Amino acid sequence: MENRKIPYNKPFIVGKELYNISRAVIEYGHLSGNGPFTKACHAWLEKNLGCGKALLTHSCTAALEMSAILANIGPGDEVVMPSFTFVSTANAFVLRGGIPVFIDIRPDTLNLNESLIEAAITEHTKAIVPVHYAGVPCEMDPILEIAHENNLLVIEDAAQALFSEYKGKRLGGIGQFGCISFHETKNIISGEGGAILINDPAFEERSEIIWGKGTDRSKFSRGEVDKYTWVDVGSSYLPSELTAAFLLSQMEEADRIIRKRKDIFQLYYKKLKHLEDSEKICLPSVASNMAFNGHIFYIITKDVNERSRLIRHLKERGILSVFHYIPLHASPAGKCLGKTVGDLKITEDISVRLLRLPLFYELSKKEVERICEEIGSFFGQ
Ligand SMILES: Cc1ncc(COP(=O)(O)O)c(C=O)c1O
Repeated sequence: MENRKIPYNKPFIVGKELYNISRAVIEYGHLSGNGPFTKACHAWLEKNLGCGKALLTHSCTAALEMSAILANIGPGDEVVMPSFTFVSTANAFVLRGGIPVFIDIRPDTLNLNESLIEAAITEHTKAIVPVHYAGVPCEMDPILEIAHENNLLVIEDAAQALFSEYKGKRLGGIGQFGCISFHETKNIISGEGGAILINDPAFEERSEIIWGKGTDRSKFSRGEVDKYTWVDVGSSYLPSELTAAFLLSQMEEADRIIRKRKDIFQLYYKKLKHLEDSEKICLPSVASNMAFNGHIFYIITKDVNERSRLIRHLKERGILSVFHYIPLHASPAGKCLGKTVGDLKITEDISVRLLRLPLFYELSKKEVERICEEIGSFFGQ
């Protein structure tokens, strides 16, 4: 029998998604935002991530944009972040007139190198954005210390980091704000989707207003004011109940989903270790860290040519592997809208050698073994 094609990602359902959606329509008759499913998702996030207040958004991009508004980013304000990240990390601040300041990453975790932050701080710096790449925690203690000493906000881009931990604390619940993604490629999904976590109570009231189109409608729906009106800047950041209904079903199964991804991650690691031992590839350096959510499994090849040949080799055998990120500091928009501090040698090197292997909930053990065999055969092993 011919092997089935293996995509690099595949959306999935785990149980009550469709049932919940029909309940939203039939039982509650509430399809716009901030209904019973949205509230249940907020309660789940607050309980499981240890944040004071959570608000669902229609994407992590939207959560980052809300953070930029909450941080009062304005023209000329600088925000320190890695260049090795998704475009939304920077765009959210650029939309407010801010300037992303790109620094290099660590060679082990591929997260922003905390020892380079201080050199990037100027009188214009307002915030630091640690991106927990692949769900692996940034070194939060030194980052928080630098932020405290320089009176800066810490906005965690925890798009990939749901349920990963740093010293016993769930990511996204550590800086003033944390931004999570439920995009279909993430560990738990709602198609598009996200959340902002507010970890400093001083920002809670304003976060609801920005979320609700700049109005105090949330207060009105709790009966705290007798009419609602325009009180601040804001936008429509809340998703519909259909999204929340789908998401709640996934949230209820989060432990099982994440355990499965971690098992896949560990199997990849075990099956490819011999290629690292014979110096053909490098593997992620987090395999023994069980407080990690198994979001991405990547390998690092010798150079860009080898990576291109391996992608082709796998594709010819029905296996889709992908790479990212084109460093933001070297992208057309990054060059004119951002600023770079230091040389970004590790970012530039890793971005041409990193390859993501398929990793999704329904990926079977046999398929992981087949992928690893094909990688082995590419290297003649
Ligand atoms: C690090 C990072 N930040 C932000 C985002 C944006 O997430 P969303 O697609 O939910 O807007 C992503 C998406 O993959 C990401 O990887």
